[in-house]
Amino acid sequence: MVIYVAGLLHRVGAGLPGFLVESARSARTAFYKLVSPLDAWNRRRRGEGTLPPLWLRRHAGRVADFERPNAAWVSMLQTHGAIDRDDLTYLDVGCGPGALALALRSRLGPRSRYVGFDVHEPSIRWCSHAFGGDRRFEFELAGVASPYGNPAGESALTYRFPLGDAEASAVLARSVFTHLLEPEAAHYLREVRRVLASDGLAFISAFLFEGPGGRDEVPAFPFPNRTSHVRWRVGARPHAGVAYSREGFFDLVRAGNLRVLELRPGFLPGRSPQLTGQDLIVLSPFA
Ligand SMILES: C[S@@+](CC[C@H](N)C(=O)[O-])C[C@H]1O[C@@H](n2cnc3c(N)ncnc32)[C@H](O)[C@@H]1O
Repeated sequence: MVIYVAGLLHRVGAGLPGFLVESARSARTAFYKLVSPLDAWNRRRRGEGTLPPLWLRRHAGRVADFERPNAAWVSMLQTHGAIDRDDLTYLDVGCGPGALALALRSRLGPRSRYVGFDVHEPSIRWCSHAFGGDRRFEFELAGVASPYGNPAGESALTYRFPLGDAEASAVLARSVFTHLLEPEAAHYLREVRRVLASDGLAFISAFLFEGPGGRDEVPAFPFPNRTSHVRWRVGARPHAGVAYSREGFFDLVRAGNLRVLELRPGFLPGRSPQLTGQDLIVLSPFA
């Protein structure tokens, strides 16, 4: 019931004009900044480990989801032999304030390497400071034009990921294709292919709906704005939440010279009415 009411409220919010959407987001960030010291104090008091400040965790999505999906991702990496080896190079696309970096820290061998990039300067600043003494970790600010970073930056369509050709054993992109419109997603997939080693794998998440005849809507999590293959949640801020038809997304994957090795369905193609998460997709390069 609660999630259906949330869906209804979201439908109302999704139709708001741009300035109201942006003001609501700024007010939310200001609120989280205000209560961040309290959260940090409370975590210290309970002896909990170091996490980014609350407002940065909120930047990466629902606060409750900052650490929760890590187990599923680590298990997916394990299934595909992409963890616990000492010769791995990870590229974390849209790393945010470092949720996956923190999850991988104790599993990264001394000769392995993790490179994360994001358009959000405060997240990159926090990560660079938190991992500052650890030579295995590097973080780069991507100067890409984005509502999450510098709106006047370079086009995402020309951005080059910060790794050389075929350098990555594993590319990670958790909850990032959910913020890319079709041409950007197509370019990012081509970049994923460029940086992946021939035996490398990409682990990404997305909202994929099934399209005609299949499941294409969850009432509690509506995407009311749509073209045939792409949907977005907030009319005035399309990058806030983007979903693809499964068929349309897989076309982009193929056009990027990648293929789908595995799809773990989330709540759009799944059958559960619960919000159980995004679809997890494992990609490998075509020869
Ligand atoms: C939902 S958060 C996920 C963060 C992180 N991957 C995680 O799992 O916690 C989406 C992230 O993508 C970043 N982002 C949005 N557009 C981007 C782009 N074009 N290139 C790189 N990062 C982007 C945002 O700043 C944000 O940190």
